[in-house]
Amino acid sequence: MINFLNNSSETPYVIFKNKYDEALDANQSSIEAISISSFSHELNEVDSRFVNLKFVDKKDFIFFSNYESQKALQFKSHDQISCLIFWNKINSQIRMKAKIKKTSTDFNKKYFSNRDRKKNALAISSNQSKEIKSYGEVKTNFENVLEDKDLYKCPPYWGGYKFEPHYFEFWDGHPSRINKREIFNLVDGEWISKILQP
Ligand SMILES: Cc1cc2nc3c(=O)[nH]c(=O)nc-3n(C[C@H](O)[C@H](O)[C@H](O)COP(=O)(O)O)c2cc1C
Repeated sequence: MINFLNNSSETPYVIFKNKYDEALDANQSSIEAISISSFSHELNEVDSRFVNLKFVDKKDFIFFSNYESQKALQFKSHDQISCLIFWNKINSQIRMKAKIKKTSTDFNKKYFSNRDRKKNALAISSNQSKEIKSYGEVKTNFENVLEDKDLYKCPPYWGGYKFEPHYFEFWDGHPSRINKREIFNLVDGEWISKILQP
């Protein structure tokens, strides 16, 4: 589930929320999954991975991760991201482009203090994206943390990322195959919408 904390009345946000509600009603699985693509300066490559979108707070889309992971290093050197959702139950694709920022330490601490302890143990124990000798070692690190650590204290290397899109594209698949594409571009604070050919 995505938590909508405050709803923006701007058109693309209203469309996003309506589509989310439709997908939820249609029992969309993995409804929180969103692909985030970032650019690695080091490798001169684009990289993508799924994360779980946890909140939409007014105009901010928020997910959580490790601040020392591969993606974190890429966000630091290049803050432009491209995001992708596909809700197959309603045959809708949503594309977004944005600049990414960290959420505040207070916000991270509050969120972490209310999470499932096993999820927190994994967040604390995993040096995300770094090489390790074996999967067994991953499990041992997790179990050690589960026994030893204060599991509700957010470590400094874990927290949220937020992004406020400057571009949305809503793609709606149609049985006739005459699919609809509507884009919204933020220009000088105003959303300019256009229909693109499918
Ligand atoms: C559906 C799905 C949801 C995921 N959610 C998260 C998430 O919320 N945060 C996260 O750090 N990784 C999440 N992952 C794992 C990431 O895809 C990725 O493996 C990890 O963040 C390391 O990525 P990086 O090496 O590019 O930093 C998720 C994976 C899947 C398949």
